Amino acid sequence: MSERNTEFFPKQLQKIVASRFLYLNQDSYENNRLFFENAGGSLRLESVVDAQARLTALPDCPERTHDTALDIRKIIDQGIQDIRLFLNAKDGSIATSLTASKLIFEIISVVAAASKQGNIVTTAIEHPSSYDACQFAAEQYNHELRVANADPVSGSIPIRNIVDLVDDQTVLVSVILTSNITGAMHNIKKYAAEIKEKNPQTIIVVDGVQGAPHGVIDVEDWEIDALNIAPYKMFGNRGVGFAYLSDRIASFPHHRLLATDQDNWNVGSTTPSNFASFTKIINYICEIGRYFNSSDDRRTLIVEGMNRIHLQEQAILNRLINGTSQVIGIKDIPNVTVHFEKANGKTQDLILALTFDNISCPDAVQKYGENNILVYARESSSHYSKRILGAVKLDAIVRVSPIHCHTPGDIDKFLEVTRLIAENSN
Ligand SMILES: Cc1ncc(COP(=O)(O)O)c(C=O)c1O
Repeated sequence: MSERNTEFFPKQLQKIVASRFLYLNQDSYENNRLFFENAGGSLRLESVVDAQARLTALPDCPERTHDTALDIRKIIDQGIQDIRLFLNAKDGSIATSLTASKLIFEIISVVAAASKQGNIVTTAIEHPSSYDACQFAAEQYNHELRVANADPVSGSIPIRNIVDLVDDQTVLVSVILTSNITGAMHNIKKYAAEIKEKNPQTIIVVDGVQGAPHGVIDVEDWEIDALNIAPYKMFGNRGVGFAYLSDRIASFPHHRLLATDQDNWNVGSTTPSNFASFTKIINYICEIGRYFNSSDDRRTLIVEGMNRIHLQEQAILNRLINGTSQVIGIKDIPNVTVHFEKANGKTQDLILALTFDNISCPDAVQKYGENNILVYARESSSHYSKRILGAVKLDAIVRVSPIHCHTPGDIDKFLEVTRLIAENSN
């Protein structure tokens, strides 16, 4: 725990990042609000919203040869290049769809259909999009479904629990990069290496949606076959998901206009604004990178930017847990339990899962709301949460998910309100 970074962004950078986001301190009614619900969809960059509007206004088809069409084509190409740089995807294909869920369903189904009968391994804490895709594909294509158990203390899947299920019949392993409920981060490079040691042919599919806004992704280094992301979880807009597919699987039979390349996963007209917006996200990450690193290389700046975001978020987490000499940290507030964080240490992302002894999770969320802080209760009554909460032996949690642009002052306000809720609701 003591190894966690405690240094916040320099004040000047903190100001810059705050100025880039919309609705950072106020909601759409202009009421003051702290938005600690970024795991449900993150704060938006103003540049993203502007680019979205600008490109959406243009009627021109990018497949033509006039000037505006060529400009739009360039924007799409830059967007694709930026997706590749963000993921460090040097080979394979980039697929686009309306949602990240749709993409992972397609990928898992295509792999299952192209493989001879065997087994599919998934985990108990996968988001329903990948878990249900595995279950659906296993039933559809006669594979056995195997589910790796979670460790309820850390809210993660120990690597052993996955590897023990892998054998020479394993077609595919689906594993989440960071849990959107427990905040546990998996070291995918290590996981992929151990899975491949047991079966080098196994295809590894990673749900990168929750991990993407919080740290570096490197599909080349991790040696995985597929990974999906959702821009609306990483400072961008809803309405699109992107995925990387390795050369090994990109040409498996899939829905495709048959005149296009075998590894093309994009069916129908592209939406230029989605690519323009993604470039704005990358420009922003590079802006943070450039604050610390004078390189001209865009991937270097992305890595620097994401590492700095991660450090800032670890400092936020540290303050949330330990507080300061002036403000009591969550670990010392009576009646509140922080789940998973202690067991995970530095592999805990900026998601806190809280329960209160004196008040139910929905009531606590209500109280936070009355104090102008937006958080969310994940409860077993939701199909998005039920299996995952069961896997970590909880019925409900209050999920607290700030992001890197929040300040020490924001954290102190949250701590103060948490103390009041824990004290006053008896
Ligand atoms: C970890 C994770 N994976 C996948 C998804 C699916 O994203 P979408 O619903 O946008 O397809 C989400 C969304 O909450 C998520 O948190």
